[in-house]
Amino acid sequence: MTIHAWFSEWGDRKKKYARTPEKFMSADRFASSGVGIGLPAIVQKSTFSFRNVKDGADRFLGVSKSGERPFARIYTRLGNPTTEYLEKALFQLDCQHIIDAALAADERRPTIASLVCSSGMGAISCTTMALVKSGDEIICGSVYGCTDSFFRTLEKFNIKTHFVDTSVTDNVKRILEENPKVAMVFLETPDNPTLKLSDIEAISHLTEPRGIPLVVDNTFATPYLQQPFRLGADIVIQSLTKYVNGHSTSVAGVVIGPYEFMSNYLFHIYKDFGPTPSPFDSWLNSQGLQTLHLRMERVCASALTLAKRLEKHPKVARVYYPGLASHEHHQLALKQMRHAGGMIAVELKDGFEPGRRLMDYFASYTTPAELAVSLGSAVTYFQHPASMTHAAVPENVRLERGITPGLVRISVGLEGVETLWDAIEEGLKLAYS
Ligand SMILES: Cc1ncc(COP(=O)(O)O)c(C=O)c1O
Repeated sequence: MTIHAWFSEWGDRKKKYARTPEKFMSADRFASSGVGIGLPAIVQKSTFSFRNVKDGADRFLGVSKSGERPFARIYTRLGNPTTEYLEKALFQLDCQHIIDAALAADERRPTIASLVCSSGMGAISCTTMALVKSGDEIICGSVYGCTDSFFRTLEKFNIKTHFVDTSVTDNVKRILEENPKVAMVFLETPDNPTLKLSDIEAISHLTEPRGIPLVVDNTFATPYLQQPFRLGADIVIQSLTKYVNGHSTSVAGVVIGPYEFMSNYLFHIYKDFGPTPSPFDSWLNSQGLQTLHLRMERVCASALTLAKRLEKHPKVARVYYPGLASHEHHQLALKQMRHAGGMIAVELKDGFEPGRRLMDYFASYTTPAELAVSLGSAVTYFQHPASMTHAAVPENVRLERGITPGLVRISVGLEGVETLWDAIEEGLKLAYS
């Protein structure tokens, strides 16, 4: 079994500071932390002059007297002040309770850190490379197509992935019991695109005693809807491209995790692989954070309204939305999420053809919404997972996961919900005419 050297110290701190009976930061505090103290300056520089030779040498040693991240003022591939601002704001939202509890207990060393990457995939691939080595194994749930294909690529480096439905906790238990070489469990919840939920708390009680890091991709939920550290996750990843940016104007990702892992393992991979975000993109994401709570409230309310109406529509065979009482994981959604999110998946009657017509309808400039991949934007997006986001997943695996030819995914945006509903009804009428 791979025992990560940093895990024993973290395991102890996690029990003391990270798990909480409260599932979320209060909405009021979240809003205040997200809006923060303003926006950072855009430091559009690749290199930074040192105060003197000792200052330069200290920074390379990871030491800084001014309290900033030392590497954020050496060379932008290693860090940048604008990105550092975003990193702080992001980890405050997910982990302020950990920092507060550690300080109250007089911990002398930092407990938690974050690193912003140039994409969500940059965050996922660097984290994985920092956690596994040749001969190790991974457990992976039903995930985004490129995450899935990345784990398949790792086979050529002798890293095997067990792809399982992590929404059934016993699947994870069985694989852990049968495979002592598992060095990482990776899941998305809600997952992409069928919106199944995995029980983070229950799975963490399987991984924690074995010293195996539980990595949660929190992109669909954001820290506003779900705070995985409080539930027992060890590392949390987000594609910032989606809800944090909120307007589809940049691509970025973040990793938040135990300080020792971040500084002594992940950072080395990050600086050598080089998935550096641009300072301007970090500024855009800092701006997006200021309205994240408002946008999430709005998209969740609209998605719930649309999901309830779609469920009653005669041309709709099935609606996947965790906020519906009919959803298989509705109770878990109530337990671990503030609201059920802004993503809906719909299986139309008669398979692909009506779905294609509906999506083509939304491709027109005269309708609200767009035919596009990605999610979390002000604009509603319709897309076809089987031929788009999940095209890289082998067909038999897609079908097993419910990614059928007739499945349409909707990322609900900020348009008026009645206007959107009128357009959906009109699109469905055309799709079946
Ligand atoms: C759940 C999830 N994780 C990760 C990613 C990858 O993010 P990025 O496109 O920023 O690399 C995506 C992209 O769609 C996603 O949906």
